[in-house]
Amino acid sequence: MRVITFGTFDVFHVGHLRILERARQMGTALIVGISTDELNYSKKGRKPYYDLSERIEIIRALRCVDTVFPEESLELKRYYIENYKANLLVMGDDWTGKFDALNDICKIIYLPRTPSISTTAVIEKIRKP
Ligand code: CTP
Repeated sequence: MRVITFGTFDVFHVGHLRILERARQMGTALIVGISTDELNYSKKGRKPYYDLSERIEIIRALRCVDTVFPEESLELKRYYIENYKANLLVMGDDWTGKFDALNDICKIIYLPRTPSISTTAVIEKIRKP
């Protein structure tokens, strides 16, 4: 089973690591689409702290990750899944139901997020005086 997942993975934290490790355990290869700076801006209204090339470098270095590529648009998921020959899409449960229309080309599993941590929370905590 070739597994694919997507995300920004800015200011890398343990919630990111856990979903990638769990995704990898569900198959034999893990492919990760990493949001471009522009896509992140359109999704979340802010520029990532680390730019795309740095985020790619970090995710690519993980033992549980086999392939990384830039995700340019949320609308291209079907193309990416077919292009990378993935048969399982894993997403965090903040996306539950959102990608069910892709179930004609792959299986879809939404995994529970790690509680009490996010990029936004880390940035806010560090910024607090
Ligand atoms: N994720 C997770 N547990 C967390 C945070 C993120 O499992 N505590 C998962 C998300 O569900 C997603 C992937 O990690 O599948 C990438 O999430 P991303 O949006 O990049 O990270 P967040 O920490 O949620 O970022 P932000 O605060 O900017 O929304």
